[in-house]
Amino acid sequence: LGASSTIKCEASVYEEAVETAELDWDNLGFGLVPTDYMYIMKCSQNGIFTEGELRQYGPIELSPSSGVLNYGQGLFEGLKAYRKEDGSILLFRPEENALRMRMGAERMCMPSPTVEQFLDAIKLTVLANKRWVPPTGKGSLYIRPLLIGSGAVLGLSPAPEYTFLIFVSPVGNYFKEGLAPINLVVENDFHRATPGGTGGVKTIGNYASVLKAQKKAKENGYSDALYLDSTHKKYLEEVSSCNIFVVKNKVISTPEIKGTILPGITRKSIIDVARGQGYQVEERAVSVEELLDADEVFCTGTAVVVSPVGSITYLGRRVEYGNKGVGTVSQELYSALTRLQMGLAEDIMGWTLQ
Ligand code: COI
Repeated sequence: LGASSTIKCEASVYEEAVETAELDWDNLGFGLVPTDYMYIMKCSQNGIFTEGELRQYGPIELSPSSGVLNYGQGLFEGLKAYRKEDGSILLFRPEENALRMRMGAERMCMPSPTVEQFLDAIKLTVLANKRWVPPTGKGSLYIRPLLIGSGAVLGLSPAPEYTFLIFVSPVGNYFKEGLAPINLVVENDFHRATPGGTGGVKTIGNYASVLKAQKKAKENGYSDALYLDSTHKKYLEEVSSCNIFVVKNKVISTPEIKGTILPGITRKSIIDVARGQGYQVEERAVSVEELLDADEVFCTGTAVVVSPVGSITYLGRRVEYGNKGVGTVSQELYSALTRLQMGLAEDIMGWTLQ
């Protein structure tokens, strides 16, 4: 990654951040490890973000009547940086996150940084926290950009001021199962999204609203919950934190983007990778019956990467896939994607940013 000259920062952050930090790199999970720097950029009523800067990672000051605290006016993103064997650092499709944040901001009546500002800020933050990028093969640096209504409001209205913030944390596997297949339960009472709602953008409220179903799933011994559409209770939507794919007779299907499904960047990348490997991939309504009849099921997301599903339980009926092992299609796609992300395969699509 090359540093941007357009953003204010102290040159010393680069000099300090060369060696890898002292951490138990072999046992990273998906928990927060505080790092050195965060990035902050503000914008007031004119809608233009200016004067972004790096600050020591730590608490921020926020008005008790800020739009985000009172009315949930906020979005987040998630992307990862990987360390290559030669020590250089790769970002995976960061401009897609910038564009998705802009799309979400429009839905949430928020101004958003330009794609260039977003990319410059990501590069700067990763470089400043370089020592926290795990050694090759040990995980990645998870990058969490936030866009929040930080200005004060009382009546319901868009906030008068916004803050764009980025923090990072080294991470390993998302699920406690590691790379082993996860067990999902189909949630029949709670829904993640509704037509006309905000399910198709990465607003913070989408994630708060699934906590109860996720908690119930975990208490009952499952890895997570899979949600159905709220109109028919018949078609798959997504898992609390990731998209879902089913495989039947080598045809791969996933719910189409229709306002209630998050347009996952890993989802989109896996569709392209699978088509490139010769698979037929369909984006369409996928019913719960097809899920139960599938040969393989897997989830995709930035945090979860490609996670094979070992079992699905629906209304008390449990169906197992692939003899509890990782299915061949999931394995093939996981390898193809992660090799690209880690710079081990030729990037003919131009998805990685060095
Ligand atoms: C991601 O995969 O980056 C997400 O945003 C999901 C989050 C709940 C960890």
